[in-house]
Amino acid sequence: MCGIIGIASNKPVSINIINSLKKLEYRGYDSAGIATLKNDLINEKKCSGRVEELEKILLKSPSEGNIGIGHVRWATHGVPNVINAHPHSTENVSVVHNGIIENSDDLKKELETKGLKFKSQTDTEVITLLITEELKKFEPLESVFKTLKKLKGSFALGIIFKDFPEIIIGARRGSPLAVGYSKDENYLGSDSYALKSMTNKISYLDDGELCVLTKNSVSFYDDNENKINKKTHIISDDENISDKGDYKNFMSKEIFEQPITAKKCVNEYIDSLKNDINIYNFPIEPKEIKKLILVGCGTAYHSCLVAKYWFEELTSIDIEIDIASEFRYRNIKFNTENLYVFVSQSGETADTAAALDICKKNNVKTCSIVNVIESTIARNSDWVLPIHAGPEIGVASTKAFLGQLIVLYILCLKFSSMRGEIDKKLYNQNINNLIKLPEAIKETLNLENNIQLISKEFIEARGSMFLGRGSSFPIALEGALKLKELSYLHAEGYPAGEMKHGPLALIEEGLPVIIIAPKDKYFEKTLSNTQEVIARGGKIFFITDNKKDSLSDNIRFGLRVPHLDCFLSSILLTVPLQLLAYHVALLKNCDIDKPRNLAKSVTVE
Ligand code: G6P
Repeated sequence: MCGIIGIASNKPVSINIINSLKKLEYRGYDSAGIATLKNDLINEKKCSGRVEELEKILLKSPSEGNIGIGHVRWATHGVPNVINAHPHSTENVSVVHNGIIENSDDLKKELETKGLKFKSQTDTEVITLLITEELKKFEPLESVFKTLKKLKGSFALGIIFKDFPEIIIGARRGSPLAVGYSKDENYLGSDSYALKSMTNKISYLDDGELCVLTKNSVSFYDDNENKINKKTHIISDDENISDKGDYKNFMSKEIFEQPITAKKCVNEYIDSLKNDINIYNFPIEPKEIKKLILVGCGTAYHSCLVAKYWFEELTSIDIEIDIASEFRYRNIKFNTENLYVFVSQSGETADTAAALDICKKNNVKTCSIVNVIESTIARNSDWVLPIHAGPEIGVASTKAFLGQLIVLYILCLKFSSMRGEIDKKLYNQNINNLIKLPEAIKETLNLENNIQLISKEFIEARGSMFLGRGSSFPIALEGALKLKELSYLHAEGYPAGEMKHGPLALIEEGLPVIIIAPKDKYFEKTLSNTQEVIARGGKIFFITDNKKDSLSDNIRFGLRVPHLDCFLSSILLTVPLQLLAYHVALLKNCDIDKPRNLAKSVTVE
């Protein structure tokens, strides 16, 4: 993954580079680095760990210069230490890179036979050395083009040159890259969010393109080295969101703002006067859709899994779900009567973007459900349905998951009504329930104190299990994922009915087992599965929206969320699981917003 930034200005750039790197930390926080140019010297400073550390280094010893590049790393090649931190520089060139160079070993061997020495274990250093070699014969632009032709893999690059102190070159293949414009200053960044505090005027490089920035000009080239023009977008100045206010961390802020983000999303799509859904411009007439294919990664994949149950209940559309990293390598039989839907918070996840590209190459219609509307996935799809959650900073996704579920549910209701597969009464009732959802989420958040108590029970356990049936099965997967990501404790999500085929062997005296049991058609079956766990000593935490039945004595702890309907229960039952993972992680003193080894936006395969 990694995040890159470059600034060419008429004033010192290091402070703005550091500020932008802080915004890019969601892409990686294993190490950070900066290189600026001053008095014909490349001045490189790097550290392992966070941008905060780099900032301390710069406070003691400032990096001067009106041009510079910066990087935050999510380690792929080489451990996360100072030597492997970017930029990677020679005396003449300094490079920051996001992506993976797949043929770096071969290129390294070639360069070593010429007597060149490598300092780091990274794949990126080959780029620095290749450009340095080419610069002995060519100008920077030509040197970079020649180098790019030798590279296999994906990259977004920012490059500065000792002997050409006015320019930054940026290049993109696979990994995203944006260019920003301002007076006497131009920028390069992994996304527009990193540039937002400096400009709202942005262009996006497409695959194979390259740009040359100076403080007052920007030129673009295609991969045939021809000059091209690019569109400028004015990005929305939506929210003042990158501030955690009175919250301890972004994650708690994001969990607790879910009533607001859900309301925003519902308001965007529901016309409460007409009691109808505002979705138009379908890439395929809903009545004509043969099959829906939903694709995503991580939490976004879980939202697709939940939606599968909804579409099957409310429409006759055939539905298939896939993990993007699998989808992109399967031998798929594409069909123009199918709609391919890509779900992604960031809109930049490499596997999801690649899966979308394959669909485009096969000329089938695509839809994306994204949070970041300026993202690569949104720009590349035929139809975009934003989730309106506002920036999500915590690495573990919370409010975006709820947003994805809400949009998928709204899409399902709309398709169902346009295909004449839902009666008007149920349609109206479902819409009314959706309007009540934000308030019900708010009420669910009141369970926090109880959940805080429960969280203590997870610390000493050897692991935990999350069980559910129907749409509560993917909610169980999501609950287990949240706990793993945040607290580094082993947790497994399983379909409750499948326990007897193996996982029941894991149950021992005192093992925490979270049962997600809405009052739906599976409720009684889930109760039976609960008994099977109780009989083997499992410690049951039972989460339900069932108001009537009293909970069995053997249940260690019961939590009740409000009841709206059997569809929206998936959304409400997610909230206690988010709070549980949060409180367990808090007790364990884990880094809540930046769990170890992870990153928010995964822009490598
Ligand atoms: C990373 C994040 C997850 C996220 C996944 C997919 O692994 O840590 O929270 O669910 O990427 O990201 P996307 O932006 O495509 O939803």
